[in-house]
Amino acid sequence: MKRRILVVILLAAYQTSTFSQTKQPIYKDKNAPVEARIDNLLSLMTLDEKIKQMNQWTYGKNANPNNIGDQMRAVSPLIGSLLYRSTNPEYRNQIQKKAMTESRLGIPIIFGFDAIHGYRTVFPIPLAQSCSWNTDLVKESCEISAKESWLSGLDWTFSPMLDVARDARWGRVAEGYGEDSYATSQYAIAAIEGYQGTNLANKYTIAACLKHYIGYSLSEGGRDYHYSDVSMQTLWETFMPPFEAGIKAGAATVMSGFNDITGVPASANHYTLTEVLKNKWGHDGFVISDWGSVRNLVEQGVAKDKKEAGMKSFLAGVEMDMVDNVYVDYLPELVAEGKVPMTAIDEAVRRILRVKMKLGLFENPYVDVVPEEKRYLLPEYLKAAEELASESMVLLKNEKETLPITSKYKSLAIIGPMVKDSINIMGSWEGKGQPKNVETIYEGLEKEFKDKATLNYALGCDFDGEDRNGFKDALEAARKSDAVIIFLGEKKHWSGENGSRSTIALPKIQEDLVVELLKAKKPIILMLSSGRPLELIRLNKIADAIVEIWQPGTMAGSAVAGILSGRHNPSGKLSITFPQTTGQIPIYYNMRQSARPKLGHYQDIPRDPLYWFGDGLSYTTYDYSDIKLSATQIKKNEHLIAEVDVTNSGNRDGKETVLWFINDPVANISRPMKELQFFEKKLIKSGEKVAYRFEIDPMRDLSYVDSFGNNHLETGDYFVIVNDQKVKFEIVD
Ligand code: NOJ
Repeated sequence: MKRRILVVILLAAYQTSTFSQTKQPIYKDKNAPVEARIDNLLSLMTLDEKIKQMNQWTYGKNANPNNIGDQMRAVSPLIGSLLYRSTNPEYRNQIQKKAMTESRLGIPIIFGFDAIHGYRTVFPIPLAQSCSWNTDLVKESCEISAKESWLSGLDWTFSPMLDVARDARWGRVAEGYGEDSYATSQYAIAAIEGYQGTNLANKYTIAACLKHYIGYSLSEGGRDYHYSDVSMQTLWETFMPPFEAGIKAGAATVMSGFNDITGVPASANHYTLTEVLKNKWGHDGFVISDWGSVRNLVEQGVAKDKKEAGMKSFLAGVEMDMVDNVYVDYLPELVAEGKVPMTAIDEAVRRILRVKMKLGLFENPYVDVVPEEKRYLLPEYLKAAEELASESMVLLKNEKETLPITSKYKSLAIIGPMVKDSINIMGSWEGKGQPKNVETIYEGLEKEFKDKATLNYALGCDFDGEDRNGFKDALEAARKSDAVIIFLGEKKHWSGENGSRSTIALPKIQEDLVVELLKAKKPIILMLSSGRPLELIRLNKIADAIVEIWQPGTMAGSAVAGILSGRHNPSGKLSITFPQTTGQIPIYYNMRQSARPKLGHYQDIPRDPLYWFGDGLSYTTYDYSDIKLSATQIKKNEHLIAEVDVTNSGNRDGKETVLWFINDPVANISRPMKELQFFEKKLIKSGEKVAYRFEIDPMRDLSYVDSFGNNHLETGDYFVIVNDQKVKFEIVD
């Protein structure tokens, strides 16, 4: 109501000031208030024009230019959105020109695509990025991705993915920022700032899309697309915070998930889509369904046919239907039958038009066309890609300083299926990344160790299968070398969408290769490239050093080689726990205390996971001072300062991340054993001491949310935790 009054006032003011020059309709006037422009446009649109705004078509599946031409001719000038798979900005501009000049009202199309971890310059997968704890670099990667995307004809990316994931069998764990809500929220903010910049109307910025709203990562047993049993407590405590942070950061759009949230699918869930997203958080952009998630309501058994599916999705709060045509086919009838009110259609179209206005598409519907060499893979993009890739890598084990590779090693055996790979190393959702632009690990090593060490390469074996014929050459290479570096891992489709696996162990042949190479009796260095945490219980026992390099993208070679040589000092820390075995899933750092903490663990494996969230070594050493608190007792409305000094006591410069956790040992509902509330990464030069500071705001950092979404701050004892230090303080009334 208040907004309506404001619009009327603004419009009246606007009309008074411009009444002498009112030839063009208000919606075309960039100086008119946005809501007034939308009111005007809605008043001119037919129902058919409105409904077409609410559908997304796709284009460019087939790369053959002739077929693309045909497809382009077939695209209606009235469509709301295109999932644009071509990389050609000229085609985009031609299609856009049709919309601008051949449709009655000239409403621009919004062009979207999945640029998930880069467009042509491929950055490490998001799971890797989150191990960097470097939100500035993540933001920069999104800025670069936005530039490359925009110059290829895009206005919108279906990123970031904010599904907090604790089951590594679920392949989409690769696409998110790990197992923690707070960390995911911080990366969400960084990604949105990177994609959207300070003003979406500027060149090179694109709209972000928070996905998959919500609870998708709880797909049972990690089987993608399956039912997800999401309790209200988990919904509010674990899944909502990153989305709320993303909305606050200004994300223009949201994607509703495929999953069935405890009986009410995410794409038909009025509570999450309307009551929370729109009413509670005030999101003013729009929600797009996932691909087919509207019609999937039929498979999920909550709609008897596509028409009912369309009605349910629409009324729940999904404004745009991805590629399904359900809205286009059935909304006209549903409106005629009075099952869908016209006011709801107008409100949905208003949201879509608002995003288009914010993007400045009405004024600047076209993108710049520049030569490819100015569009993609610029030197500074590659530099950022190497930096983020190297900061993402996690040194998990380093017995007797096996790493880095110093002059003590004159020859290196370089073995494994990942060494010369240029496809899987990009990970899933590689955008428009091309293998020919990937610097392979082998190329990186050749450059890094030129004139320093001889490289003895052998494939060893493929990613899977039974062919052990390559073992012999691999063993020979190992025998004539001073150290054996084995590059193992997953193919890109083993994770990502529809990339579920019943075991997170590497295929047996890869483990057997390592066992075979032990015969050479040389230091064994394992370099693992995967889209998920792996089961390393066996390999961990036999390797001298292990680095999780994830799927590092275009600059894999230089990043990996730099980590091995010590040019890059490892600074990644896990954003997700590595269980001992697949059967230990789910296991994550912020579990609740069990009723009998010492009992109930699996009898056949150690109690703790193999590597915890937060684990990660460096080539230098850091000494932490005691945690200092500004007070031991504060009132609810006072702040508390916690500080710790970290000294780099080794002889290399390094970047250290301090993870600040909180524990509320007794509350009205049980709380996790610890919860991350803040993190900071800083460069510490060898021999130097740097102070880290966490200013605790009790309401923000110590309160908990209940199953209705309400926050509570209780008085009593709390702990602040850094590494294994735990210091108590008290909150009083
Ligand atoms: C399905 C995926 O679930 C989603 O993440 C993606 O954005 C859409 N397809 C579009 O490609």
